[in-house]
Amino acid sequence: MALQSRHLLGLDGIAAEDIFTILDAAKSFREVLDRPIKRLPTLQGKTVVNLFYEPSTRTRISFELAEKRLSADIVNFTASSSSVKKGETLIDTVKNIEAMKIDMVVVRHSSPGAPHLLSRALNSHIINAGDGGHEHPTQALLDMFTIREKIGALQGKTVALVGDISHSRVAMSNIYGLTKVGARVIVCGPTTLIPREIDKLGIEVFHNIDEIIPQVDVLNILRLQLERQREALFPSLREYHNYFGITRERLENATKPILIMHPGPMNRGLEITSDVADSEHSVILEQVTNGVAVRMAVLFLLAGGRSEIN
Ligand code: CP
Repeated sequence: MALQSRHLLGLDGIAAEDIFTILDAAKSFREVLDRPIKRLPTLQGKTVVNLFYEPSTRTRISFELAEKRLSADIVNFTASSSSVKKGETLIDTVKNIEAMKIDMVVVRHSSPGAPHLLSRALNSHIINAGDGGHEHPTQALLDMFTIREKIGALQGKTVALVGDISHSRVAMSNIYGLTKVGARVIVCGPTTLIPREIDKLGIEVFHNIDEIIPQVDVLNILRLQLERQREALFPSLREYHNYFGITRERLENATKPILIMHPGPMNRGLEITSDVADSEHSVILEQVTNGVAVRMAVLFLLAGGRSEIN
């Protein structure tokens, strides 16, 4: 199967078939990562520009490794050491880069909609690596891939996104993606960190973490994004931890093993305790490994590949 879309801007606008096509292709690429030689010639001759206007550890390195594993030529752009500092606009910057004959742009930007803007101005394929509080589609795809690998089909599974939903692009992409493939999605957190009317997206809203633990297959625990919060949205970090922190004691109320996920970076001791993050049910580092395979699949498919690879 080929992708219906020529960009990956978000999971809101993508067809469910495209999600499955990416997840199926990622399975083959995941196997490549376990080989002694982890390199395929798939993107030989293609040039990918990684355009990061915001800090990143996982996504940036994961995309770069995915591109290298597929033998693409890579250019890494860092806004802080570019002519952006002289006032050049995003569109002008990327049009100039595109004039040097590139094929794909991976972009992380603090402004929601920046990848969409680029997709209208450029001929290259655009991949959203996180745009403000809007979407982070490859993170949600790697989360979905990990759930499928660990506990099987997504349809009918109950996945809870816990914590700071309001500031989380990871939450939004997971909500769009998981609802599309038939999972039951719960969000749980303080009222001040959950957007009003989010239930209209076909999900359930809870404010008591102890109420959802007996119901869920997966807890995807989100980072408390203190840098994005302009006002105090809860009384103290200690109080947040007491009410919403995922601890081993809380998980004792589970009726079955719960898959513990976190997109990273983690605030250990705040939204998740170290004993949970490092427990046998945690797949946090497997998410990171799977992220390379999922990004290889996205790059491969946007470059015109089809999912029946070997
Ligand atoms: N999960 C995630 O997007 O991490 P980075 O900000 O380190 O890329």
